Amino acid sequence: MAQLWGGRFTKETDKLVYAFNASIGFDKRLLKQDIEGSMAHAAMLGKQGILTDQETKKISEGLKAIEKDVESGALVIDESYEDVHSFVEAVLTERIGEAGKKLHTGRSRNDQVALDMRLYTRIQVLTVDELLKGLLEVILRIMEENLDTCMPGFTHLQKAQPLTLAHHLGAYFEMFKRDRLRMHDIYVRMNYCPLGAGALAGTTYPLNRDYTAELMGFDGPTLNSMDSVSDRDYLLEFLSALSIVMMHLSRFSEEIIIWNSDEYKFIEIDDAYSTGSSIMPQKKNPDIAELVRGKTGRVYGDLIALLTVMKGLPLAYNKDMQEDKEAAFDAFDTVKDCIILFTGMLDTIKFRKDRMAESAMKGFTNATDAADYLVGKGVPFREAHSIVGKLVLYCIEKNTSIDALPLAEMHKISNKFEDDIYDAVSLKTCVEKRLTIGAPGREAMEKVLEVYRDYLK
Ligand code: ARG
Repeated sequence: MAQLWGGRFTKETDKLVYAFNASIGFDKRLLKQDIEGSMAHAAMLGKQGILTDQETKKISEGLKAIEKDVESGALVIDESYEDVHSFVEAVLTERIGEAGKKLHTGRSRNDQVALDMRLYTRIQVLTVDELLKGLLEVILRIMEENLDTCMPGFTHLQKAQPLTLAHHLGAYFEMFKRDRLRMHDIYVRMNYCPLGAGALAGTTYPLNRDYTAELMGFDGPTLNSMDSVSDRDYLLEFLSALSIVMMHLSRFSEEIIIWNSDEYKFIEIDDAYSTGSSIMPQKKNPDIAELVRGKTGRVYGDLIALLTVMKGLPLAYNKDMQEDKEAAFDAFDTVKDCIILFTGMLDTIKFRKDRMAESAMKGFTNATDAADYLVGKGVPFREAHSIVGKLVLYCIEKNTSIDALPLAEMHKISNKFEDDIYDAVSLKTCVEKRLTIGAPGREAMEKVLEVYRDYLK
């Protein structure tokens, strides 16, 4: 057992307590950040004259060597230490002697871990942002290729009005664009450095917190030492934003699963992103989409876990906060995998334009347009709605559609219908005439695509 404390103890820690308390099994992934933070701290101690130049140099070189050796495999992280911070300090001291023992001057593991986690999360925020950008590029490509691919739009999962695949995917473009904005917001709010807060009350050493903040690319030091060591808001914000990303991916997955079903056959998922059945030879299952949908629950769980950990904690640091790591790491890892797999799957999906168009023609998706047509002929909308309702019922009985019904039969219901009705309810008209900004008509969509291309530049 190797720990940083023990002076005031007369007994060995119970083995189970030691294992229960230790975090090295999961916080070892903060090694790089721990070293980055320690380098900045040592450089600042040197600049302030708290360490000699010689000591500062030794510490800095020692830390760099540890990072290099762990990377190359020459040094293996020894999990008998309590946490990554203890491990780094112990190896440093073993390698460079007395100077190593001075590194922790004016610092506590409380501000140290607060810093490490922020440095690590900062990278995760940027990584998720980049991955979302990649996903948006794929969505944009499919949109550009499908401005005229008609499909039914649904409400209540019932066919509602026709639109295009480009328009449908545009909805997801908007969602993931907002997800990226959330990443940017979180970054701006979290980018302040907690190092120098000490255990909770700062320190009497003349630390230069502006300097360490600047060295590590923060916008400045945090302004309250108690908050600095006990704030996990930035993690909660990130986990919330990740939950929303997953919610979006899950809805999209759900649609892909439906579209991929035998009943719809709107799409075909590539073999590389499908799996088979051990018993039913005909099966090709959308497992990736299903797993993304399933893993959404897990990321929500991580958010709820941390919210619950934090809700009853008095200021300042409490060991409960160590629980932030596994929840956060699990969410980061899950979301990254999900975006990568989902992007690959989407990029290789084959869209069955014929099936989509055929489906858009059926199901009376042009009924609203038939009513609008009557309004154009001077019929009040409420009355037009009722006439077309009767027309739909008639078509259902005759097993036909509005656009296939002869004019003479339409006249049984209303004599306001004329020859131009067929053009008014054609699939092409129904989609192309919807030209308000945000609507599926080609001209409207092209303007939006222009904005999207610019945005992704
Ligand atoms: N492993 C701890 C954590 O993740 C590091 C901070 C320990 N601080 C303490 N006062 N015991 O929170």
